[in-house]
Amino acid sequence: MNESDSRAGELARLFEESLSRYQAALAEATSESALRVVHARYAGKEGEIRKRLADALKAAPGPDKRAVGQAGNTALQKAEELFGSRLVDLHEQKRQADLQRRLDVTIPGRPHRLGGLHLLTQVRLELEGIFAELGFQVATGPQVETDFHNFEALAMPKDHPARDMQDTFYLRSHDPSHDPLVLRTHTSPVQIRTMLQQKPPVRIISPGKVYRKDDDPTHSPMFQQIEGLCVDEGVTMADLKGTLLYFVQRFFGPGIGLRLRPSFFPFTEPSAEVDIECFFCKRSGCRTCKGSGYIEILGCGMVDPEVFRHVGYDSEKYSGFAFGTGLERMTMLRYGISDLRLFFAGDARFTEQFR
Ligand code: DAH
Repeated sequence: MNESDSRAGELARLFEESLSRYQAALAEATSESALRVVHARYAGKEGEIRKRLADALKAAPGPDKRAVGQAGNTALQKAEELFGSRLVDLHEQKRQADLQRRLDVTIPGRPHRLGGLHLLTQVRLELEGIFAELGFQVATGPQVETDFHNFEALAMPKDHPARDMQDTFYLRSHDPSHDPLVLRTHTSPVQIRTMLQQKPPVRIISPGKVYRKDDDPTHSPMFQQIEGLCVDEGVTMADLKGTLLYFVQRFFGPGIGLRLRPSFFPFTEPSAEVDIECFFCKRSGCRTCKGSGYIEILGCGMVDPEVFRHVGYDSEKYSGFAFGTGLERMTMLRYGISDLRLFFAGDARFTEQFR
C-alpha cells in the first residue's frame, strides 16, 4: 500500500467516525430546531466534517487533493441524507401523535353567566320613563347633604319636631363653622338644589338613595325615594292630582283610582297623602290594604311659600306641587314582595326571578 492510499484510508475513517457520531446525535434530537443545531455542528459551514475536509485538503500533496475533495463531498452528501430522513421521521411522529389525540365533543360547554339589572333599577328606569312622558327631567343630588338643603330650606328649622321622624346620620365636620353634614333623609333637598340653579318652569323627578335610622322588615337604614317637583305660573292641585293619576295608572294598571287624604309636611301647604285603590282585592279589603281597600303610596302637596322664599322664587307669581315616594315600597307592592331586605341581601335566587 502506497502512502497516498493509506492517507485516503485514514481520511475515510475520520469521516466515517464523524458521521456515526452525527447519526447518534440526530437520533437523540426530538425537535426540528434541535435537529438543525446538530446539523450545523457537524455539516454546517463551521461544522466538524467541513473542518476535517479543510484540514485534509491543506495537508494533501497537489495530486491527491482531488480525491480528498471527492471523499469530503461524499461524506457531506451522506450527512444531508441522514438529516433529511431524520427530519421526515420527526414530522411523521408528530402527525401520528396529533392523530392519536381524542377530542370529546360530547362534553357539555361551560355557559357564561349573564348579568342583569336589579329589580329596583328596572323599576326606577320605568318610573323615569313614565314621568318623561309628562315632560319631567331627571335631576340628582348628593347623598351627603348640608343641614340647609336637607332641613332648613325645606322649612324644618333646627328645633322643628318634624326632624324627629327623619333623624339620621350626622357627619363630623372638620370645620365647626360649616353647616352640619348629614346623610340625606329624603330626596327633597334636590328640589332646593334645582330651584337654586334655575328659574321656573321646573319639572323634575329625582330618584336616589336616602338614609334613616330605622331597621326592620319594612324599613331599612338605606332606601330609595323618587321625588317630583313642578313649578310654573298657575300650577294647581288639579295638576298634581292629574299627574299622580297618570303615574298610578301607567305603573299599577289602568282603571286604578286614587284618593288624597289631608296630611302635613313642613315644605308643602296644603299637604296630602295619596292612597291607591287596592288592586289585590279590588277594594273589598285584604291583608295588603289591612282591610281598608286602599294602599298608601306617597306624600305630596303644594310647595310652601316658605320654601320658595329660601330659593328666591316669587310665591306671588309662581306655584308648584311636589311629591315623594319610596322606590322599594312601589316595587314591593307591584311584585307582591313581602320583605324589604330581600332587595339588599344579594341572593341570586331572588334577583334572578326578575330578569
Ligand atoms: N320627603 C318626604 C319624606 O321623605 C316625602 C314627601 C312628602 C316629599 C311630600 C314631597 C312632598 O316632595 O311634597 O317623608
